[in-house]
Amino acid sequence: MKDILLDKGWLNLKVDPALDLIKEINYLKKKKNAVILAHYYQNADIQDIADYIGDSLGLAQEAQKTQSDIILFAGVHFMAETAKILNPTKKVLIPDLKAGCSLADSCPPVEFAAFKEKHPDHIVITYINCTADIKALSDIICTSSNAVQIVESLPKEQKIIFAPDKNLGAYINKKTGRDMVLWDGACMVHEIFSLEKLIKLKIQHPDALVLAHPECEELILEQADFIGSTTAILNYSKKSEHKEFIVVTETGILHQMQKSSPQKTFIPAPPNNNCACNDCPYMKLNTLEKIYIALLHEQPELIMSNEMIEKAKKPILKMLELSASFGL
Ligand code: 13P
Ligand code: SF4
Repeated sequence: MKDILLDKGWLNLKVDPALDLIKEINYLKKKKNAVILAHYYQNADIQDIADYIGDSLGLAQEAQKTQSDIILFAGVHFMAETAKILNPTKKVLIPDLKAGCSLADSCPPVEFAAFKEKHPDHIVITYINCTADIKALSDIICTSSNAVQIVESLPKEQKIIFAPDKNLGAYINKKTGRDMVLWDGACMVHEIFSLEKLIKLKIQHPDALVLAHPECEELILEQADFIGSTTAILNYSKKSEHKEFIVVTETGILHQMQKSSPQKTFIPAPPNNNCACNDCPYMKLNTLEKIYIALLHEQPELIMSNEMIEKAKKPILKMLELSASFGL
């Protein structure tokens, strides 16, 4: 293999632009028995080289069953952390350690522990989009694929804290008739959709169905014909007889939608700023170059203490167990 490092300073590594990155990544994957797991919000070129593309639940399930020695996680930090918690002896690589999450950041552990203390008789159900410290303070983890079923699996009188996403929490409260106590967190990408622009778009495309992610605010969700996780939205668009869809989530998902239904039209819902579509700045930090460098040097590696892994694992395993019992 060609020496690709033009600059040996770590973090300033540059890749020879003449290199066939896809070929090299595939070569390294095979040589090192590595698997690439990618979220639907990744850039299209990353989705195309991934061994598995999915939503947060699918990615956790895939991480749990992988036989590979190395997991390269093309997503954000909390997703790679979940993969590490489920595979403490494997090497988990994340192409850019700065790929965080505004929703995870909206729930700091010290404040959350104090919040929990104020509600001592409550069970804590936490959306997977949070740090390992928050998972360690939780009873059950959920994703947007299984949140409603997990909440419904608990007795009606059971008091629940739901964290960190207030929009998903409010959506579940409405759907299940529960009164969960909500942590006041949100995702910057899903909170920024413009109601006014969405309504205008619906008028311009009267036959389009609106597909939305439950991390969106209530007024946006009220405009939706279907609400679900990224996988659920994708599957809905595949099965639907409709030809046109307005998609209210991060734009990365449009790649798989367009690939599986090339004859259909997918229109990204506009945010409340001058951009035409809505990208997650954290998800979009990953690039093919960074994936190549990460596989080549087996860095940056996600490191966690065994103590944290053990504490955070329990509520994740509970979620996976419940999901299997729901047939998810
Ligand atoms: P899902 O893909 O699980 O629906 O989650 C969306 C999301 O915001 C991931 O960061
Ligand atoms: Fe976090 Fe929102 Fe980006 Fe998902 S889309 S990683 S929830 S900031």
